[in-house]
Amino acid sequence: MDSKLIEQEAADVPPAPKKVFVKTYGCQMNVYDSQRMTDALAAEGYVASQTAEDADLVLLNTCHIREKAAEKVYSELGRLRKLKEDRASAGGEMLIGVAGCVAQAEGGEIIRRAKAVDLVIGPQTYHRLPDAIRRVRGGEKVVETDYAIEDKFEHLPAAKPAIVRSRGVTAFLTVQEGCDKFCTFCVVPYTRGSETSRSVAQIVAEAEGLARAGVREVTLLGQNVNAWHGEGPAKAGKTEEWGLGRLLSRLAEIPGIERLRYTTSHPRDMDDELIAAHRDLDTLMPYLHLPVQAGSDRILKAMNRRHTADDYRRLIDRIRSARSDIAMSGDFIVGFPGETDEDFAETLKIVRDIGYAQAFSFKYSPRPGTPGADLDGQVPEPVKDCRLQELQALLASQQKAFAAGLVGGDMGVLLEKEGRYEGQLVGRSPWLQPVVIDDAAGEIGDIIKVRITHANANSLSARAA
Ligand code: SAH
Ligand code: SF4
Ligand code: F3S
Repeated sequence: MDSKLIEQEAADVPPAPKKVFVKTYGCQMNVYDSQRMTDALAAEGYVASQTAEDADLVLLNTCHIREKAAEKVYSELGRLRKLKEDRASAGGEMLIGVAGCVAQAEGGEIIRRAKAVDLVIGPQTYHRLPDAIRRVRGGEKVVETDYAIEDKFEHLPAAKPAIVRSRGVTAFLTVQEGCDKFCTFCVVPYTRGSETSRSVAQIVAEAEGLARAGVREVTLLGQNVNAWHGEGPAKAGKTEEWGLGRLLSRLAEIPGIERLRYTTSHPRDMDDELIAAHRDLDTLMPYLHLPVQAGSDRILKAMNRRHTADDYRRLIDRIRSARSDIAMSGDFIVGFPGETDEDFAETLKIVRDIGYAQAFSFKYSPRPGTPGADLDGQVPEPVKDCRLQELQALLASQQKAFAAGLVGGDMGVLLEKEGRYEGQLVGRSPWLQPVVIDDAAGEIGDIIKVRITHANANSLSARAA
């Protein structure tokens, strides 16, 4: 074979596609964003990789909510720097990007502190990611953290149906971003900017695309999802302002969408129409994540939550009268500055009064730039530890009691994946618990009726009913 022919053959072999590994920290909104970034990079010829070790581009989609969350990013960057150096000494290349809320909060500081980083990109500018990557590959260090005037969702490409389906029969759909509430402990208003809602048309089109790809359950996402509002379609030349309740009713009409959920909500934005949607829509699952954070009015005020503990109790009463089987979930913070033993006892009291099926609880973490960080009366760490343990024990006992109460009863389960053993399928209960069914007659994507036989620590066991 002469050398010309060899050259020709080499040119015929397409170059191996570049691989991107996206590591996601933080909330579900980051999970959704990571998928959209992966889709945007797919249009540029990148395929998804499962590890950093064989990736040409590593993106960390970060969270800034508590100190530990941000620290994790820097330690991961340390590990990646070594990988990048090894790759360079073998003659290869690895690019590193930081996205998400740490990127937004720290900007170019990240590149000063972690020199291996090539790109810092904030959540409002993900549609510029392909362009940013091209610039990085041209040798630039890129920082993109301004709040873009253009709508990022409008410019982010949708995933192909096969890719959507490969992600499963449940999907997230971001409908709202940002927060104007300014709770005094929280960085979100600074990292995600002010509240914006996506349009009805955009949301409906995306949900229809998901349904066509085989998705059966859609969870609407927003930092304050129930602050979502938008203009409904024009009727007789007039448009109406819609809230989340109306949007959910509209989405419930889409053929193939069997289940709807939404998270995270703020108590102040639970309006009558949304509560009524829980009564009227079978598609809307009887599960609500509605954080109260604390049970003492003094602490709620200092947190700038703008409601009292009794306002919250009354709200839950109204929601429960609209939908009696609704299960409550919440978030709690212990050790906010100035929290006394008496204040903390009020948190335990509200937990006992409400009864939670699920909850997340955290030690207060002072975040730079938030008003809480400068308050007097910071609570010592050992006191926070103690309170967190007591609260978590109470919440765990409630979660266990809730699951135990389901044993012997029937429910619809959305089949999501195969189980560990032959013939076993795993699905979700209406209350988000994983359900393991040994003799499930049905296919992934079906909703089947089962009888619960056992409540385990983090799942339910069932048989076909
Ligand atoms: N938008 C949602 C949740 C945002 S962050 C809401 O308003 O409820 C998720 C949870 O993290 C919060 O509900 C809160 O419980 C917790 N959190 C936020 N900032 C925190 C901080 N500085 N320290 C500890 N926990 C915090
Ligand atoms: Fe943070 Fe409060 Fe906004 Fe929730 S409502 S994102 S806790 S500022
Ligand atoms: Fe974290 Fe940002 Fe979500 S701070 S919780 S990733 S909005």
